Amino acid sequence: MKVRKAIIPAAGLGTRFLPATKALPKEMLPIVDKPVIQFIVEEAKASGIEDILIVTGKNKRAIENHFDSNPELEQDLEKTGKSGLLKLTQEITDLGVNVYYTRQPYPAGLGDAVYRARSFVAGESFVIMLGDDFDLMKDKVPLTKQLINDYDKTHASTIAVMKVPHKEVSKYGVIAPDGNIAPDLYNVKKFVEKPAVDKAPSDLAIIGRYLLTPEIFDILEHQKPGRGGEFQLTDAIDTMNKTQRVFAHVFKGECFDVGNKEGYLETSIQYGLIHPETRDALRKYIKELGKKL
Ligand code: G1P
Repeated sequence: MKVRKAIIPAAGLGTRFLPATKALPKEMLPIVDKPVIQFIVEEAKASGIEDILIVTGKNKRAIENHFDSNPELEQDLEKTGKSGLLKLTQEITDLGVNVYYTRQPYPAGLGDAVYRARSFVAGESFVIMLGDDFDLMKDKVPLTKQLINDYDKTHASTIAVMKVPHKEVSKYGVIAPDGNIAPDLYNVKKFVEKPAVDKAPSDLAIIGRYLLTPEIFDILEHQKPGRGGEFQLTDAIDTMNKTQRVFAHVFKGECFDVGNKEGYLETSIQYGLIHPETRDALRKYIKELGKKL
């Protein structure tokens, strides 16, 4: 059966971006002119996903408004002849994917947020896409689609991982690889959530794209709180790996982490360098700035 459902957890408080995120959901922070969550939804669509459930929380209304129509704005753009902007605005509403919402009432970890999608998923294999991890899709095949392509061959859960600098492993879920079955596809001995740098089993970090079989919900149902007292998705995946294969797909493209200030700036610059309205001026500016630094 085709993988057609995606969960986007978006309930986090965004404390790393205060004060910007005091009233604004962090998922609505723009990369040049597009909110982060729109990139994620576009990646889902480009990967063949048909139904998306965004798990939100308090203070996240702006996300729903973003994917809804805005008749007043649209009328104004029409009246003033700004047809390009009108098209751009309407395309967000007419994306051709169904977007649903549910709320996580208390922050209780990624495992808890995902568990709230159980009835939405309804027994199908599905993907999870985290908003902090960002595939600019400069690679022709988006990361989510790469996982779906693996699944079409193996019918097994597959988690995207990427090599990160060793000193950064403690920010991520990390895998202990156990030999590969294809150039980019590894068996996994163990999944560990945010290990200490000296205890990490490898430098292969989970980068926020997961393709999971629905059995994960039976495990999440009985999951005990893990690191930080929260229900960790990584722990549930490690448990599932004991009864059914969970592969790791090593992503070789460029994936940015917009969940921290440095990564957010880097992503904005990278996107600015490919955005038709900014690329030339930005390239010139960076070259001039480089001489002064
Ligand atoms: C979450 C996951 C972690 C993963 C990371 C990727 O952590 O728990 O395993 O490596 O996303 O961004 P968070 O960044 O939400 O703390």
